[in-house]
Amino acid sequence: MIKTEICDLLKIKYPIFQGAMAWIAEGNLAGHVSKAGGLGIIAGGGMPSELLREEIRKVRKITDNPFAVNLMLMMDNVEKQIEVCIEEKVPVVTTGAGNPGAFIKKLKKAKIKVIPIVPSVALAKRMEKSGADAIIVEGVEAGGHVGELTTMALLPQITAAVDIPVIGAGGIATGKQFVAALALGAKGVQVGTRFLIAEECTVHENYKKAILKAKDRSTVVTGRKTGHPVRIINNKLAKEFIKLEESGASNEELEKMGAGRLRAAAKDGDINFGSVMSGQVAAMVNKEETCEDIILDLINSAENELNNLKNLYL
Ligand SMILES: Cc1cc2nc3c(=O)[nH]c(=O)nc-3n(C[C@H](O)[C@H](O)[C@H](O)COP(=O)(O)O)c2cc1C
Repeated sequence: MIKTEICDLLKIKYPIFQGAMAWIAEGNLAGHVSKAGGLGIIAGGGMPSELLREEIRKVRKITDNPFAVNLMLMMDNVEKQIEVCIEEKVPVVTTGAGNPGAFIKKLKKAKIKVIPIVPSVALAKRMEKSGADAIIVEGVEAGGHVGELTTMALLPQITAAVDIPVIGAGGIATGKQFVAALALGAKGVQVGTRFLIAEECTVHENYKKAILKAKDRSTVVTGRKTGHPVRIINNKLAKEFIKLEESGASNEELEKMGAGRLRAAAKDGDINFGSVMSGQVAAMVNKEETCEDIILDLINSAENELNNLKNLYL
């Protein structure tokens, strides 16, 4: 069975994280991923702190296994969310959208494992020095907010630069991609897009259908000019946004167009003018399954791939 040091560190059965997805990855999804032996992650981004507490308690009704909360550091209520994580004794916190340096000590004092998401070697090294327990390295193939570099190029540079365990994210939806990440030095993977269509994922049905319909070139990155690039399905919103960007519109105008659009897609099912965040692997995601089936398929097919690779040596 594929088992790595991240399994011992976090006390999880399989080295598979379900990526946080704002407005989507709630207690139900996270709870079922953790119950199946992966690390379920509640997306805290945009969530009032008392709702976060309820979602944490939902996970605990589903399973006693470890799980995580993802904190988006640019959110106004992040300090309150940290208090909730400490009070509720959340075992693991992942952080995005900023440098968690200032919060790491406080979280670690409360015995919470801290795993920042990083887009560069420099930040990875800084996070290791600040006391992070592991890091998640996310390539530009991923859905949602992205950096510049691909998983293939960035992951081995970071695994070579730090000693803490590295989790690969972005473009991983199958056993083959899981094995590739391990070969690049990762001790586990974080999967987002494939979990969007998990049976237990509460995202709007229209969103799931848009992912199921996607092809290899269905996603684009918007917002490079605003400094907040986001990978989404190329729909009417994406086209209008890119047109506005190319017309030289101000950041203020662009941000106004993007505001509230993920919620509109995820909760109200507006897949034309909503932000349907999705990774490039959407084309490979083509059936709704339970979280348990997704995790077991990833593990079993990765093990088959490892055996197939061994056959290359005659
Ligand atoms: C709809 C959506 C929303 C996301 N929201 C967040 C978020 O709130 N916080 C975060 O750290 N990452 C977020 N991500 C990134 C995922 O957690 C994960 O790292 C990424 O999806 C992995 O790449 P993949 O889409 O190729 O599987 C989001 C991704 C998607 C698809």
